[in-house]
Amino acid sequence: MSNPTPATALRYHEATKYAPATIGNHPPLDWAAQPASFKDYATESPVRLAAFLPHDPNPFTGDQPGALAAAPAGLSLAGLSRLIYAAYGITGLIPQEARPTYLRAAPSAGGLYPAELYVVVRDSSDLFPDLFPDLAPGLYGYHPLQHALVPLWEDAGAHQALVQACYGNAQVAAAPVVLVVSGVFERSRWRYQQRAYRRILLDSGHLIANALLVGPELDLRIGLTAAFCDDRLNELLRCDALDEGALAVLPVLAPGIAERPAWAALPSTAVPAETGDTLAALHEASRCAIERPRLPAQGDESAVALHAQHGWSTSISLLGDGLAPNPLAGRVFTGICDRRSTRGFSDATISAEQLARILAAAYLPEEVRLHAQPTLVPDLLMTFVAIVGVDGLADGVYYLAPQGLELRLVRADVSRQALGFLCLGQELGSAAAAVIFHAADLSAAVRRYGDRVYRYLHLDAGMLGERLSLAALAEGLGASGIGGFFDDHITELLGIPREQAVVYVTTLGVPA
Ligand SMILES: Cc1cc2nc3c(=O)[nH]c(=O)nc-3n(C[C@H](O)[C@H](O)[C@H](O)COP(=O)(O)O)c2cc1C
Repeated sequence: MSNPTPATALRYHEATKYAPATIGNHPPLDWAAQPASFKDYATESPVRLAAFLPHDPNPFTGDQPGALAAAPAGLSLAGLSRLIYAAYGITGLIPQEARPTYLRAAPSAGGLYPAELYVVVRDSSDLFPDLFPDLAPGLYGYHPLQHALVPLWEDAGAHQALVQACYGNAQVAAAPVVLVVSGVFERSRWRYQQRAYRRILLDSGHLIANALLVGPELDLRIGLTAAFCDDRLNELLRCDALDEGALAVLPVLAPGIAERPAWAALPSTAVPAETGDTLAALHEASRCAIERPRLPAQGDESAVALHAQHGWSTSISLLGDGLAPNPLAGRVFTGICDRRSTRGFSDATISAEQLARILAAAYLPEEVRLHAQPTLVPDLLMTFVAIVGVDGLADGVYYLAPQGLELRLVRADVSRQALGFLCLGQELGSAAAAVIFHAADLSAAVRRYGDRVYRYLHLDAGMLGERLSLAALAEGLGASGIGGFFDDHITELLGIPREQAVVYVTTLGVPA
């Protein structure tokens, strides 16, 4: 598809780069104006999900687990409760004078939690009369403080409207229950101004990864699409598009064969904004219209070009003769519930086997006994790994060829000090044993998917970041996402053109 350049995504990305000369210009935070981190829906008849959690004691009731906590998962209220909790439930609390910070199952830049979760229930009584006896067809909002669903519109029309918004996506149509993820812009913009859009998408990617990863353990098959008509879906969610926008749709189904057609990503059809490089301009320009956009032409030109670019140097395959299972396999739910971002690393080293299993969890999950994970736009994100503390691997910056988990040396000169500087001077960067960078050729990506690719790339990178982090924690190591970095200094380190976009950074190491 053709798109006038510079596209809104390119302008937005350039305008929201951090640079050493301007990083100090950010205005101080207005604490009195901080938005609440979740919607405190008032309702008299919530659908309570807490009793289905297996925790002892139950974090919401304080009770010991009863019979419902042992109820089988799958397509049932028990399965839905555990799925939603693992995706985005409250798993921790930091008491504070003004108001506590509720930590969630997924990490969030600055602990601001801009993502919201909705549930759409289909009328499945014809097929499965006993599926959800306590959950009438309709639209629900998720109340994290109660771990409950709040009815917003009890009507079978909600699911029909969702299917229509998703252009008839067969997986969404077949799903008895569908999760919808949105972003409430001001929650993050309050702190990060226009750069917030990047973090809202990354945050959402993290929670989506949780749902996708835990699904099979709960006997559920979770799909993913970010191809929908924004106006239609926002209307269903009753979002004021200036404040909140739908970002992703996750159909929840019984295990089985995937339905077709089900598009994960389609090009945006909105006319790019003539001017404007703000969060709102990009969200607007990256909409999909009422008519289903045509799929972009097939092709993996960018992947081929990348491999050619980084194919010349010696490569180290991390797969070797096969990898041991990642310790996350079989205990994803617990791994997520116990997860916390690491706040400091010691300068101890990690092993090459650990790094291999962590990278495999993100890029080749089946190699380490995790289930295959969907990607919105395969082949568009490229991965680089800066190694400064991995036993058996020489320090350096490597391009990671994901198919064979091959490290190809880009440059040997890298220091902890330089990595710390790139992460805005954060110690997480300078003390990490390995730092993983995700970047993309944004112009090429926009040529295929329009401005909407900005959403896809950041959602995908958030998903990769979550799998890297969970896998690292399962190894007894530490991890943290880094959303604040000096963009142009990173492209310089990676040896890629300045025009290419650095999307996300993940630090790995031994917790201090
Ligand atoms: C997209 C994203 C960006 C983040 N960026 C940073 C960062 O730059 N520095 C940092 O110390 N932590 C960063 N974090 C970690 C958050 O601060 C952390 O998730 C949040 O405080 C909640 O804590 P928890 O992850 O332990 O639940 C980031 C997390 C995400 C998801």
